[in-house]
Amino acid sequence: MEDDLAKILISREEIDRRVGELGREIAAEYADNHRDLVIVPVLTGSIIFVADLIRHLPFKMHIGLMTVSRYRGATTEGGATQIVKDLNVEIEGRDVLVVDDILDTGNTLKAVSQQLRERNPASVRICTLLRKPAKAPKDLHADFVGFDVDDVFVVGYGLDFNNQYRNWPDIAVLREELYQ
Ligand code: IMP
Ligand code: MG
Repeated sequence: MEDDLAKILISREEIDRRVGELGREIAAEYADNHRDLVIVPVLTGSIIFVADLIRHLPFKMHIGLMTVSRYRGATTEGGATQIVKDLNVEIEGRDVLVVDDILDTGNTLKAVSQQLRERNPASVRICTLLRKPAKAPKDLHADFVGFDVDDVFVVGYGLDFNNQYRNWPDIAVLREELYQ
């Protein structure tokens, strides 16, 4: 696996430190008033991030799973966001925190947050580990952002190429010849 990586962009130590900080930011935001908080990880890319993040949150929560697919084996753009498996938890009147791995064009998070808002939650906030500011749309506000990154294709810490490399502990840049 290591041979396929061009370089480490964000090390496991940096991720660990920043995830702790994000946890404290989120805990502070919901400290006084969280109306039955529901964490909604956007599967599959957020699995490792959300597992680490929620252990920094010192209050009770529900977890609602939702599977979304956009990149099907390619790193190229295009293709509508598909909600492959719908949320399995009631969110009406509750605070919702959507957790995703990366905000690229924003299509995924736009589609997901729009769907969730239709169910009348008390609030919907967005937490993303990575954001590519070059492309992220101005009309989609991410409330909590781990790192802004350049517009390069990254894998590891949950992020995949062809559904692989999710288990690499750092965030790394894939060698270009592998996806071109
Ligand atoms: P968006 O809809 O363009 O914001 O894309 C978001 C989704 O595309 C993410 O949840 C990822 O699954 C995938 N994605 C976007 N950029 C990357 C990348 O650099 N590496 C791996 N997956 C990515
Ligand atoms: Mg994803």
